[in-house]
Amino acid sequence: MCGIVGCIGIEDTWNFLISGLKRLEYRGYDSAGMAIVHDHQLSSCKAVGEVHNLEVESCESMPRRGSVGIAHTRWATNGGVTVKNAHPHLDGSNEIAVIHNGIVENYEILRAVLESEGVEFRSETDTEVIAHLISKLYEDDLTEAVRLAAKELRGTFGILVVSSREPDTIVAARMGSPLVMGIGDGFTVFASDTPAIIGRTNQVMYMNDGEVVCARRDGYRVYTLDKTPISPKVEALDQKLESIELGDFPHYMLKEIFDQPQALSMTMRGRIRPEGNDVHLGGARLTVDEMRSLKRIIIVACGTSWHASLIGKYIIEDLLRIPVEVEYASELRYRNPIVRPGDDLAIFISQSGETADTLAALRELKRKGARTFGICNVVNSTIAREVHSGLYTHAGIEIGVASTKAFTAQVVALMLLTIHIGRARDMSSFMAEDLIDAMQAVPRLIDQMLAKERLEQIQTIARDVVARSTRNFLYLGRGFNFPVALEGALKMKEISYIHAEGYPAAEMKHGPIALIDEEMPVVVIAPRDRIYDKVMNNIQQIKARKGHVIAVTTEGNTELDTIADHVITVPQVMAPVMPLLTVVPLQLLAYYVADMKGLEVDKPRNLAKSVTVE
Ligand code: M6R
Repeated sequence: MCGIVGCIGIEDTWNFLISGLKRLEYRGYDSAGMAIVHDHQLSSCKAVGEVHNLEVESCESMPRRGSVGIAHTRWATNGGVTVKNAHPHLDGSNEIAVIHNGIVENYEILRAVLESEGVEFRSETDTEVIAHLISKLYEDDLTEAVRLAAKELRGTFGILVVSSREPDTIVAARMGSPLVMGIGDGFTVFASDTPAIIGRTNQVMYMNDGEVVCARRDGYRVYTLDKTPISPKVEALDQKLESIELGDFPHYMLKEIFDQPQALSMTMRGRIRPEGNDVHLGGARLTVDEMRSLKRIIIVACGTSWHASLIGKYIIEDLLRIPVEVEYASELRYRNPIVRPGDDLAIFISQSGETADTLAALRELKRKGARTFGICNVVNSTIAREVHSGLYTHAGIEIGVASTKAFTAQVVALMLLTIHIGRARDMSSFMAEDLIDAMQAVPRLIDQMLAKERLEQIQTIARDVVARSTRNFLYLGRGFNFPVALEGALKMKEISYIHAEGYPAAEMKHGPIALIDEEMPVVVIAPRDRIYDKVMNNIQQIKARKGHVIAVTTEGNTELDTIADHVITVPQVMAPVMPLLTVVPLQLLAYYVADMKGLEVDKPRNLAKSVTVE
């Protein structure tokens, strides 16, 4: 959601802030702003729209150097998308500037109290109360004022605060919204996400909930909200600038689709045992007894990660015979889920590791005594830190809002976990070996699927979709490929704004078939497997109603050539592994349709990469 950058002790403050904001553009935002303290003067500027607007218009006249600076990209929650509502928000005397990620849930009460004391508000945001509250509590110590204000806030926040009265201080506080501090030689930087600081320093400290940091030129201190000093845990940031560069690709989404062979190799790297029939998962920390006594697995996630979870259910139930429940985190957190501590394993899947709903569901299940396991991509993210144990996907930084490589990496991680638990139970060495062989072949197979002529075929289909002014799409799949249908539909709708629905193929006749006519493209995932004939029946039913069929099937299957309007083929692999291949043309189709429609592929409207608010 909102992006945060801040610094103290950096020579080129303005440039650092602008480049930091640009690196956070992928998070999703609608306006931006910055504040710099220079010569005891606080200057600020804001703009609606792209960071570019801030750079070339609103902030042009800001001081380039400053002792401290903060900058923000806003994803509107309270209050519309206007310059007034953009951050930073200032106190009444224009001495204090605040940027904030999160939602202050008690802001109406706080605002009413402040207004009754004569404070005049300039925006509709919840954030502005923080600036006025700090001002009210500010005597001569900004850190203390921020700490006291933070104690009065309910909800979530990651904030950075500067004041012209303390030009050599920047204060950060966190409760529920990520903040990372980068420590350099004579400078300190802050960000909501590491891409903003990669290349500046590789020494970082991830702030925990309930912590306040006071950074000055000569160092920093960390406290709890109760003022207890904390020894910071400084870690090495293992990310390179290349990982956030586009290279020759026009968009991050396309780059990340192409990253998949490498990403999946990284997910498996060092985890396959030399004998080839078992895996080694260092972070899993599940004892053999725990794995043997498992009676149920609950997988919790949102969006694309939820689709990966569903594939996990199909795989685990098929291969391990352990019942799996897949839950939307947003629903689970407000239900009263049944947890049997000794019997259950609760798995939380999240690319960012910061999704508010998934995090809340994790805390709720932990509170109920569940043993928790995380599958995250972002190292040291909040979910990764709060689970009992887990597995990183190591897919590399994913910047495109539409998740691609994180999805396939999550599926691979779930397969590794399946083998890990399976080998502690009754999975045969042959089964494990077959699965491992099939998984290890996937990077090479995806590579082949990204060959020029194959891309051209999908571009032709995309051109057709755009030429027909398509407004609706249906995606059908069965078994392991039903979640792929859901994922294909999500990809299409989030970046091309074409309404798309995913369905289990056989459910079509229970409703969606009414939608089918010559204008309705239907993507059918129909690999040659045990239920291929059934899916073929569905295709015949669509064609009988003049539907436009785009079929994804296995190489060598020519039966569909005369029936479907377009046939995309993928290599034959064993059924559980098939989703890793069938999803790739659907990612590409969504990408090319959106691109051909001239849309902002990497920054689709209204969406944010990391959904850190409810
Ligand atoms: O970071 P997470 O995996 O927890 O994110 C979950 C969803 O917000 C995310 O997958 C979203 O659906 C993507 N935009 C899908 O492309």
